[in-house]
Amino acid sequence: MAFRILALSALVAKLSYAEPYNTFDGPGFPACNDAIAVHNPSTVDEMINLVRNAAANGTPVRASGKGHMWYDTMCSDNATVIIRTENVNKISDFSLEEGATDGSVMIEAGVTFFQIAEYLHERGASVGYTLVNWNITLAGSVAMGAHRSSLREDSMVAAGALELHVIDGNGDLKVIKRDNGDDEWLAASTSLGLLGVIARMKFKIYPDFKVYAEQKTLSEKEVLEGDIYGLIAPYATANLWWWPHMHKFHQRYYDRVPTNTSDQEGFQSTFSVTEVEAGAASALLNAGKYLATSNMLSENIFFDLWSKPNFREKTTNEEITEWPVYGWNYDVLIGGLYPGYGTEWDYGLRGLTLELAFPVTQANAVLNRVRKAFDDEFWQNGKYMTSTYRSGINIKFGKPYFDLLGQVTYDTADGADWNKGAMMFDFPTFKPSVGDGLRYNEPFYPKLAKTLIEEFPCRPHWTKNTREVFQWSKGNLDADHLARFKAVRQKFDPKGIFKSVVGEILELY
Ligand SMILES: Cc1cc2nc3c(=O)[nH]c(=O)nc-3n(C[C@H](O)[C@H](O)[C@H](O)COP(=O)(O)OP(=O)(O)OC[C@H]3O[C@@H](n4cnc5c(N)ncnc54)[C@H](O)[C@@H]3O)c2cc1C
Ligand SMILES: *[C@@H]1O[C@H](CO)[C@@H](O)[C@H](O)[C@H]1NC(C)=O
Ligand SMILES: *[C@@H]1O[C@H](CO)[C@@H](O)[C@H](O)[C@H]1NC(C)=O
Ligand SMILES: *[C@@H]1O[C@H](CO)[C@@H](O)[C@H](O)[C@H]1NC(C)=O
Repeated sequence: MAFRILALSALVAKLSYAEPYNTFDGPGFPACNDAIAVHNPSTVDEMINLVRNAAANGTPVRASGKGHMWYDTMCSDNATVIIRTENVNKISDFSLEEGATDGSVMIEAGVTFFQIAEYLHERGASVGYTLVNWNITLAGSVAMGAHRSSLREDSMVAAGALELHVIDGNGDLKVIKRDNGDDEWLAASTSLGLLGVIARMKFKIYPDFKVYAEQKTLSEKEVLEGDIYGLIAPYATANLWWWPHMHKFHQRYYDRVPTNTSDQEGFQSTFSVTEVEAGAASALLNAGKYLATSNMLSENIFFDLWSKPNFREKTTNEEITEWPVYGWNYDVLIGGLYPGYGTEWDYGLRGLTLELAFPVTQANAVLNRVRKAFDDEFWQNGKYMTSTYRSGINIKFGKPYFDLLGQVTYDTADGADWNKGAMMFDFPTFKPSVGDGLRYNEPFYPKLAKTLIEEFPCRPHWTKNTREVFQWSKGNLDADHLARFKAVRQKFDPKGIFKSVVGEILELY
């Protein structure tokens, strides 16, 4: 009986008054400013009913996975109902024939990367390189055009979707199949959640395989004056991490190896920290709100730590100390948390970010422009620019993938050459938890974003930017793509119940 009451109250859990619905960073970091209810359904049918109710009342409604986004752009500012997908997480219809190069599986909205990875590994399969991070839903990633880093392989998560089953603005479940000749597909492929709730996806899978991870340290000159495309394109997945104070880069790359290459089972962790480590980092980084030397010291420490493999042997939990590292693809490419560790945000370390994509053909010009902005900040304002993030400034890449609103689409009216792919400048920074909470060089960040947007063709990541950045960059988007998207949006959601701040800024309402 007690159990039934609990289950029932979980299903209809409502907040009695409007309050923010937070991102993974918790209180003080709203994803939605005004959530009037948060529902936790456990089946697709329950989600359909919730959307039908919202549609009948004209109430704004948004789906949410794990809240792994940064700013208050999930909803519109009007009172919104949230449908949390966490408990709608069945995996079914596994199909991968002996000897086949690929197959498929059906997953529900709440399935996370680590959940699907474990399920598939047990069955000798994987999703290849269409990955983001561990505790994030695949549906939330497809909705927002999330991606890994590769110029050679498809690494937009959407590239793995074969069918999207979307609950539209009337509460009807529509099946949209991959078809590049169909605007419904091209809109659904990066929908920003504006067509409705992605309830299920038929997703492409491959036979499981092993990979190596290798990392090199490069001087800043080798990158800024080098062949950036050539550093990335040969590998299955690769990226750069920039240490601007040290004038260095790390180049990380991964590729497939025969299964018998090594018995090692490397397991990566980007975010694991102990409470003691987090406390030390927090003290140093908070001091950096006031003191440049503190930030420089942080960057030196982070650089040294990041030069070593951030991997352990999965079978023994022992630290791996030498490159290259070998293991099963998901464990090496993503991994998760080490046993007994927490994440940085579990221990109160908070971040802000900014991510813009540029044609990779302009990669050198963009990074040199950023370097100039860093130098100008010192010469004009006396402020030393550093990376205040444990893995530096993340420079990622994307193979071209055509849809209407994706970051790596092509054939756009800006006339820029997106056909070779994109470089993403992803600039995470520490957000102080002391004083007014502003960063040491707070005005620099929006100024840099504005400069890059004005001087280069570029596109924002849909969950890693502030409202201002969306405002500034919307003029860089293709007007025809926006118009075609809007036509599909009006068909799927005539009353605009799924609207979000992003959709409003893009004038899709
Ligand atoms: C630690 C960390 C690492 C990350 N790494 C990367 C990275 O490497 N590359 C990258 O591209 N991104 C990255 N991201 C961003 C992340 O992939 C996106 O923000 C993603 O959308 C989050 O998914 P979620 O399941 O947490 O959804 P939420 O954060 O809950 O929602 C994000 C948005 O998607 C919508 N949405 C969620 N589920 C659905 C659904 N079922 N149907 C329709 N709309 C939906 C929501 O309404 C909201 O607008 C990272 C984020 C974090 C916190
Ligand atoms: C995954 O994210 C959710 C929501 O942020 C959180 O409650 C949960 O503890 C996380 N799980 C892990 C393993 O970090
Ligand atoms: C939504 O919010 C806008 C701006 O605050 C307001 O003008 C509008 O009336 C609101 N609409 C509804 C339906 O509440
Ligand atoms: C791995 O297997 C292949 C094919 O069976 C074989 O040719 C190769 O020598 C093996 N390599 C190692 C390192 O054992």
